[in-house]
Amino acid sequence: MKNGTVSGSPSIIQTNKEENARPELKSSVKNWDSYDVIFLGYPIWCADMPMALYTFLESYDFSGKTIIPFCTNEGSGLADTEAAIKKSCPEAKMKRGFEIEGNVAQHSRKKTEQKIEKWLKKVIDRK
Ligand SMILES: Cc1cc2nc3c(=O)[nH]c(=O)nc-3n(C[C@H](O)[C@H](O)[C@H](O)COP(=O)(O)O)c2cc1C
Repeated sequence: MKNGTVSGSPSIIQTNKEENARPELKSSVKNWDSYDVIFLGYPIWCADMPMALYTFLESYDFSGKTIIPFCTNEGSGLADTEAAIKKSCPEAKMKRGFEIEGNVAQHSRKKTEQKIEKWLKKVIDRK
């Protein structure tokens, strides 16, 4: 796969991105008010979040909520997704995001756990 193209034809992923699509979500969060902190996880696709994440971010009121992003990728890190989340939800508070290569997350459990622990110590307030 190159630049989001699978077998020479544009993938649905690439088409969604080019069209700035907002794919319909299959489910909704029923008890939205009971969440203060939202860990938002996604793979990096075409240097961005999957477009369904934008659907999600634009579907709820994030006032008073804290978003903590985390992603898997193949080298782009978080790309510009933290800024994109902030732009979609200016009313939300945000904490530093986490990124890890998908390959590492799948095959190096210890390294992954250590990296996650280090990140969580920075983003979670312990009282
Ligand atoms: C269509 C598509 C586009 C992708 N674009 C990027 C990209 O721009 N940057 C990047 O680091 N990884 C990219 N990836 C890799 C994914 O982020 C990676 O596959 C995902 O995080 C999960 O990792 P894994 O496949 O090793 O489990 C892309 C994957 C797909 C399927």
